[in-house]
Amino acid sequence: MRLERVAAHVPTGAYLADIGSDHGYLPVALIRRRVIAAAVAGEVASTPYQSALRTVHENGLGQYIAVRLADGLAAIEPQDRITAISICGMGGATIRDILQSGKARLGGQERLVLQPNGGEQPLRQWLMDNGYRVVCEELLRENRFDYEIIVAERSGPVVYTPEQLYFGPLQMQARSPAFLLKWQRLLRLKQRTLKELVHARKAVPEEKRQTLVQQVEWIVALLGSTAETTR
Ligand SMILES: C[S@@+](CC[C@H](N)C(=O)[O-])C[C@H]1O[C@@H](n2cnc3c(N)ncnc32)[C@H](O)[C@@H]1O
Repeated sequence: MRLERVAAHVPTGAYLADIGSDHGYLPVALIRRRVIAAAVAGEVASTPYQSALRTVHENGLGQYIAVRLADGLAAIEPQDRITAISICGMGGATIRDILQSGKARLGGQERLVLQPNGGEQPLRQWLMDNGYRVVCEELLRENRFDYEIIVAERSGPVVYTPEQLYFGPLQMQARSPAFLLKWQRLLRLKQRTLKELVHARKAVPEEKRQTLVQQVEWIVALLGSTAETTR
C-alpha cells in the first residue's frame, strides 16, 4: 500500500528516477501499467542492485528501465530527461543528504516524490531552503508504522513556519484522522519521555530537553481539546 500511494503521485508519462530502488518494484509496476515512459532504478548497494536487475529482466523491461549502481542522484544522466524522482523507504535526513549532494543533477523541473521513514522535519527544511514547495502530502499507516509521502516541486522562494516544517504544511491544514492519530500517539510518547527524564534526573543535554518540550507544546497546540483525551 505504501508504494501504491507513492506510485499515485508519479505523473503520467513521466521519466522517473527511482533512487534507492532496491527490488525495483516501483518502476517495474509503473512501466507495466503504462503510467511512465521510462525509468532509471538507482541503487548504491550491490545486493539490491542485483535484485532490481533481476526484477527488470524477469519482466522483460530492460529497454524501458536502466538499472544503475550509483550513489544517490549520480544514477541520473542528462540524456535520461528525468521529470520525476522518487526516493522512498529511507530516513528523511538520508533523503535530504541525497538531494543535497546531488543538487547539480537537479534541473528544477522534476517532481520529487519522497517517502521518508521519520526525519520529515529536516527534509522539509531542505525543500524550503532550496525553493521547493510542498504540493501534496499524505500520511498512511501500514503494519503499525506511520508513513509520510511528501511531493514537492521547485517554485521559487517559499517560507514555512517551524511548526509547518515539523507537521507538514498541508497536513496541518487538512487534519486528517490518520494525521491526528499519529500526533496523539506521539504526544503520549513524548510526554512519557519527558516525565522519565525528570524522574530519572538523567543527564540529557539541555538543548535536547528543550527541543522535546517545544515539540510537546506544538503538538498540544495542534491537537487542542483532542490532546486532553490522550493523557
Ligand atoms: C529500505 S530500502 C527502500 C526500497 C524502496 N525504495 C522502497 O521504498 O520500498 C532503501 C534502499 O535505499 C538504498 N540506498 C540508501 N542510500 C542510497 C544512496 N545514497 N543511493 C542509492 N541508494 C541508496 C539502500 O541500498 C536500500 O536498498
